[in-house]
Amino acid sequence: MSSKVRIGLFGFGCVGRGLYDILSRNNTEFHVEKVCVRQRYKHRGPDSNLFTYDPKEILDDPNIDIVVELIDDHEAAYSLATEALQRGKAVVSANKRMLAGNLDTLLGLQKDRSPSLLYEAACCASIPIIRTLENYYPSGAVHGIEGIVNGTTNYILTRMFHDGLSFGEALSLAQQNGFAESDPSMDIEAFDAKFKLCLLATHAFGVVLPVDKVFNYGISTIAKEDIAYARSHGSTIKLIARSAREDGQLSAAVLPAFIPLDHPLSSVGNEYNGVLVHTPYSDAQFFHGRGAGGHPTASAVLADISAAASHYRYNYDKTQSDTKPAFTNDIAVDVYCRYGDTDIARELSLDSIDRRYSSKTHNYITGRVQLEALLQSKSVRNTDVFVGVLPVVSQS
Ligand SMILES: NC(=O)c1ccc[n+]([C@@H]2O[C@H](COP(=O)([O-])OP(=O)(O)OC[C@H]3O[C@@H](n4cnc5c(N)ncnc54)[C@H](OP(=O)(O)O)[C@@H]3O)[C@@H](O)[C@H]2O)c1
Repeated sequence: MSSKVRIGLFGFGCVGRGLYDILSRNNTEFHVEKVCVRQRYKHRGPDSNLFTYDPKEILDDPNIDIVVELIDDHEAAYSLATEALQRGKAVVSANKRMLAGNLDTLLGLQKDRSPSLLYEAACCASIPIIRTLENYYPSGAVHGIEGIVNGTTNYILTRMFHDGLSFGEALSLAQQNGFAESDPSMDIEAFDAKFKLCLLATHAFGVVLPVDKVFNYGISTIAKEDIAYARSHGSTIKLIARSAREDGQLSAAVLPAFIPLDHPLSSVGNEYNGVLVHTPYSDAQFFHGRGAGGHPTASAVLADISAAASHYRYNYDKTQSDTKPAFTNDIAVDVYCRYGDTDIARELSLDSIDRRYSSKTHNYITGRVQLEALLQSKSVRNTDVFVGVLPVVSQS
């Protein structure tokens, strides 16, 4: 027992329990010393002596080597992670909101020889995408990343497209099947996907994105008419997180997009995630896997625990590159807009209009708009408006 790496675990929910379960099977390397949770009355299952409600029992224990933070409170997670790092303990986290919102400070805390802060599970759960971007691709090698990085919205969109469900019906089904939380707003309004995109962009391009300036637009106003429009154009609709480099600049946004049915991302169904990494000489690589769930997410946490035990750390080499791109929203996107009473063409200041159509129930326009105009527009958040990116994402 004493030669095992000792873990202090915060959180015993979906992922924490999943990790405990995996470690309980045939694990000879790691020992969970303590688990800190919030509520005293809950029945936990394993030995009650394992549990504490006092974070100090983990943070102040010199025998604990690695702190694993798997809680659902991003502010508490930030203070736990920083305190642990300052006490010389390695930290493994899955909390994309905490990480993306504090990345500059967290990078500052990780000086040479400091303990590791690893967070593979925070992006696309089981897909080993962060370490791949960090270590495999050298600085300047990645031209673009685009992916389906949120399992909840992908499940909802899959059910809308394949079963003809409305958004509300598909959301209820996702909640019944454990793929959406009772308050799903972070997922369906694309904040969760934006936090993940910010983390991916740091490891792909070396840029720490300003979270508040990255445009995110969710799926809650997608109607059956939009799905029908996609289908009639040989496409489906997916929530796409995309960041691309061009002429020394880096754009980033999360928006629903029309994806042709022969595009690799169209085949990513249900709660699965998929990421395409675009490179100039080797075309695109496609990563696919389970994007949520206790065991899939815990498997990435375990990989990080193992890496931290071997003193692996992210070097963030690309953030030091002289040629790293500068963030911009100064790009144009081709869009489809469905609207009711809002005069959307005027409200969005469309640069150009390709097509206009009106029926008794709805109107739509296709055209070109500046991303900055979308970011500034209040109308784009109206319930009678849906904006999707055309003609979609590129294949290479
Ligand atoms: N679920 C997934 O598929 C998934 C996938 C990727 C990443 N993640 C991330 O993983 C993290 C955990 O998610 P989850 O789904 O496992 O959450 P969850 O099921 O809601 O469980 C959250 C756990 O955190 C504990 N907790 C909350 N605040 C705490 C505090 N201040 N101190 C100690 N414990 C605290 C709760 O304690 P009580 O039990 O006492 O309430 C609970 O055990 C989140 O950051 C999430 O974004 C989840």
